[in-house]
Amino acid sequence: MVSAILFGVQREVKGKEVLMPSFGPNSQVQALSDQQIASLSNYIFQQYGNPDLQVTPEQVTALRQGGAQPLLARVAGPATLGGRCWWS
Ligand code: HEM
Repeated sequence: MVSAILFGVQREVKGKEVLMPSFGPNSQVQALSDQQIASLSNYIFQQYGNPDLQVTPEQVTALRQGGAQPLLARVAGPATLGGRCWWS
C-alpha cells in the first residue's frame, strides 16, 4: 500500500498499460509527506482493509529510502562487509 502511494504503479495488463501516479518526491501530481502517507494508509486500512494494521511515518521514511536493511547487512555493517574482515 505505502509503496503504491510512494512509487505509483506501472504495469501491463492484457497488453494494456496501467499507470497510477506516484506521490513520492518526484511526483508529477502532488508529493506527500511521510506523515501524510502514514495517515492516509491508516485511514484506508481502517475503512477498507485490516483495522489492526498501523503505519508510522518512520516506516514510510524507511521505505522511501529503500526499505529496512536486511539483517545480515545490519549485523555485519560496512566494517565487516568491505575491506578487512573480522576473521582475517
Ligand atoms: C492517494 C490515493 C491513492 C491510493 C491510496 C491508491 C492505492 C492503490 C493501490 C494500493 C493499488 C494496488 C497496487 C498493486 O496492486 O500493486 C493501486 C493501483 C492502481 N491505482 Fe491507485 N491509489 C491512489 C490514487 C490513484 C490515482 C490518482 C490514480 C489515477 C490517476 C490511480 C490509479 C491506479 C491504477 C491504474 C492502478 C493499477 C490498477 C490495476 O493494476 O489494474 N490511483 N492504487
